[in-house]
Amino acid sequence: MTGERGHALRLAVAADAEALALVHIKSWCEIYKDVFPGHVLKKLNAAKHTAYWRSLVAATPGGTVVCERGRAVIGFLSLDAAGDGDSRESVGEITSIYLDPQHWRCGYGAALMRWALSRAESRGWRRLILWSLRENHHARAFYESVGFHADGASKTGHLGERFSGVEEMYVTLVRFARRLPG
Ligand SMILES: CC(C)(COP(=O)(O)OP(=O)(O)OC[C@H]1O[C@@H](n2cnc3c(N)ncnc32)[C@H](O)[C@@H]1OP(=O)(O)O)[C@@H](O)C(=O)NCCC(=O)NCCS
Repeated sequence: MTGERGHALRLAVAADAEALALVHIKSWCEIYKDVFPGHVLKKLNAAKHTAYWRSLVAATPGGTVVCERGRAVIGFLSLDAAGDGDSRESVGEITSIYLDPQHWRCGYGAALMRWALSRAESRGWRRLILWSLRENHHARAFYESVGFHADGASKTGHLGERFSGVEEMYVTLVRFARRLPG
């Protein structure tokens, strides 16, 4: 899918793992630089992130879309059935959305979100949720602008326990939700 901003969206493949990891780390370091101490962000490890993305893309084919400009991956979004068991509805979850900081606020996040909404509808989900770090005010404003609202749920989790090696950092996550037509 080619967009009016000179970008293209396509499904991620295993060979994208390193590019996904690099965008992920760059985006984390910028968005969380005033939230976490520098030594925590310095522990982010490209090899661990790459391994994480390689296994995620293999385990959930069709679940991650990348945004490219030219041949460079500048962002991505991952979508899956929701892990939360608090609803009998069919619920999808955006498990990550990250753009290279050089390309923030250019409309690519909204383009990725349009893809997610369309994919979620075609899967027959009635609701879409996501979890945001409580202090991530930029992302929270973005989610509200694309039709999500904080639904009152929150939880505590490890910062990047799956891949970053910074297990000592606990964070509060707040849930955003949006109903889907149907
Ligand atoms: C959050 C993110 C995915 C949004 O993507 P983006 O391409 O920057 O956002 P868009 O340009 O599509 O913005 C669409 C609208 O969202 C709102 N918005 C986006 N960023 C915003 C910000 N920092 N502050 C306030 N509103 C914002 C605006 O209404 C914007 O429309 P406008 O630019 O016409 O005013 C991107 O900024 C990002 O990667 N951030 C760092 C990683 C991150 O926080 N991920 C989420 C983890 S939970």
